[in-house]
Amino acid sequence: MDSEDTHQPPGTDDATATGPDALLDELVGPDTPAHGETGAPAAGGRPAEVRAIMVSALTGSAAVDGTSGGLGNDLDAALLAAVRQWADAVLVGAGTVRAEDYGPVCPDPDYTARRAARGQAAAPVLAVLSGSLALDTSARLFAACRGEAPGARPPLILTDSSGAASARAETLRSAGAEVVDTGGGDVRAAVDTLVARGARRIVCEGGPSLLGAEISADLIDVLYLTLSPVLSGAVEQPLVTGAETTARPMELENLHRDADSTLFLRYRRRR
Ligand SMILES: NC(=O)c1ccc[n+]([C@@H]2O[C@H](COP(=O)([O-])OP(=O)(O)OC[C@H]3O[C@@H](n4cnc5c(N)ncnc54)[C@H](OP(=O)(O)O)[C@@H]3O)[C@@H](O)[C@H]2O)c1
Repeated sequence: MDSEDTHQPPGTDDATATGPDALLDELVGPDTPAHGETGAPAAGGRPAEVRAIMVSALTGSAAVDGTSGGLGNDLDAALLAAVRQWADAVLVGAGTVRAEDYGPVCPDPDYTARRAARGQAAAPVLAVLSGSLALDTSARLFAACRGEAPGARPPLILTDSSGAASARAETLRSAGAEVVDTGGGDVRAAVDTLVARGARRIVCEGGPSLLGAEISADLIDVLYLTLSPVLSGAVEQPLVTGAETTARPMELENLHRDADSTLFLRYRRRR
């Protein structure tokens, strides 16, 4: 799917790339070292900075007609792409991969120098959390494995111990994915696995189940929330599901109103 009909970033192979956009830099936020990057113990023992990015209708729905594609505008797609370029790892739930036909994360020429200066790989790894491992190996997720996404890395599938030892895991490995045993298979184990593999900047792109699990585990440091100026007739997909009711106080760091009335909010967890 392209950026016009999904909450996925636009193509990144633009030969006329001119470097990061100032508005996007403002929306992404200060490029300060993430927790753990300096080598010093992170505040509260946090080994990485975890950010989440979501788009919502005014009425709280995270999807219209089955995907988030009808919610975000072009700037939202560009923000998603820019936040990916901040990250070492992009974490997404298998439900979103299936619903939105998720594709690989490619290098972005606008950010090549910046990523190299930070010691990051050319592109973040796309990590998919799945218990069932019900992922279609002919889908876009596996495009890098088929050599169809230059510079993108094969997907990293995070699952529990029984999943990692299953026949389904072997099928995904044969298709080129790396299937990793996180132990328990929950979201904290997934983040710990990414940290153990060197990720210090992790962005979670949802969906609502994964976001809920992260909030329950108090893993979110920063939330990018795009408020789309639409009223959905029903909340077909809540922004968060399955979370404990504990409130996690957040502080507004940035607010941008786009010309079409879309609001871009960036909140940081008060710790
Ligand atoms: N508005 C937005 O910004 C936005 C962003 C993303 C998605 N969405 C929408 O959200 C919908 C999908 O929602 P969803 O909740 O099904 O997607 P999800 O959170 O992406 O995926 C849920 C799946 O993740 C896997 N998982 C493994 N361990 C988990 C854990 N501890 N906690 C949560 N998930 C775990 C499971 O996969 P297995 O079933 O493989 O075991 C589970 O079914 C779609 O309509 C999509 O378009 C909206």
